[in-house]
Amino acid sequence: MDLRTLYLMFTLISGVRAQDLVVSQPGSTEATEGESVLLRCSYNSTSRPKVGSYWWVKDPGQVAVRNTTQEFMGRVIAVKDRAFLVDRKADIRINDLRHYDSGLYRCAVKLPGFREAFGNGTYLRVVKPSAGISAPPDNYMVLIWILLRGLFYAFGIGAVALGTCLYFEKTKSLNGASPSTW
Ligand SMILES: *[C@@H]1O[C@H](CO)[C@@H](O)[C@H](O)[C@H]1NC(C)=O
Ligand SMILES: *[C@@H]1O[C@H](CO)[C@@H](O)[C@H](O)[C@H]1NC(C)=O
Ligand SMILES: *[C@@H]1O[C@H](CO)[C@@H](O)[C@H](O)[C@H]1NC(C)=O
Repeated sequence: MDLRTLYLMFTLISGVRAQDLVVSQPGSTEATEGESVLLRCSYNSTSRPKVGSYWWVKDPGQVAVRNTTQEFMGRVIAVKDRAFLVDRKADIRINDLRHYDSGLYRCAVKLPGFREAFGNGTYLRVVKPSAGISAPPDNYMVLIWILLRGLFYAFGIGAVALGTCLYFEKTKSLNGASPSTW
């Protein structure tokens, strides 16, 4: 057997086996700015691997999702080797989410004897923390403001009315008292 035949056989075998490695990840997920998100990814292969590697890229731009990339500096946590090899998980966690973290995250797995396989990508949407929480207080503030303004006006009218009444009382008693003094 010459080297070419060997190479052909190898590519044939690895080509066939490559079909067995399937990388799965959820289609989309949502998380809040400032919080963290777990991006799930798993793979299946017919044989249990002893070594292997995985990585994530973010689109657009094919940015490597790792601590050494400026964009993700110190914010990426990877699963333990054991979880990768035994549980076949290739999850990552991204901490302290920024609004610009929104995008398509693709998980890639490489195992010996297999061609590297990519997942279809998880679309991460990073939402503002204020979106759901500060809307009611805003409405409450408006309501309180309207109430206060109403009270203020009612009080103002009341004060004017009271003042007018007092004035009339005063002039009446003055008028009433005038005959006796005269
Ligand atoms: C990825 O997308 C392709 C095309 O839509 C689909 O056939 C395939 O099943 C998907 N793979 C996974 C792991 O969901
Ligand atoms: C791998 O996953 C795919 C899709 O989920 C499935 O069709 C296939 O049977 C799985 N293969 C193995 C070896 O578990
Ligand atoms: C990335 O950096 C953070 C903070 O220093 C650390 O906790 C984490 O383990 C690092 N991730 C990896 C994959 O080394």
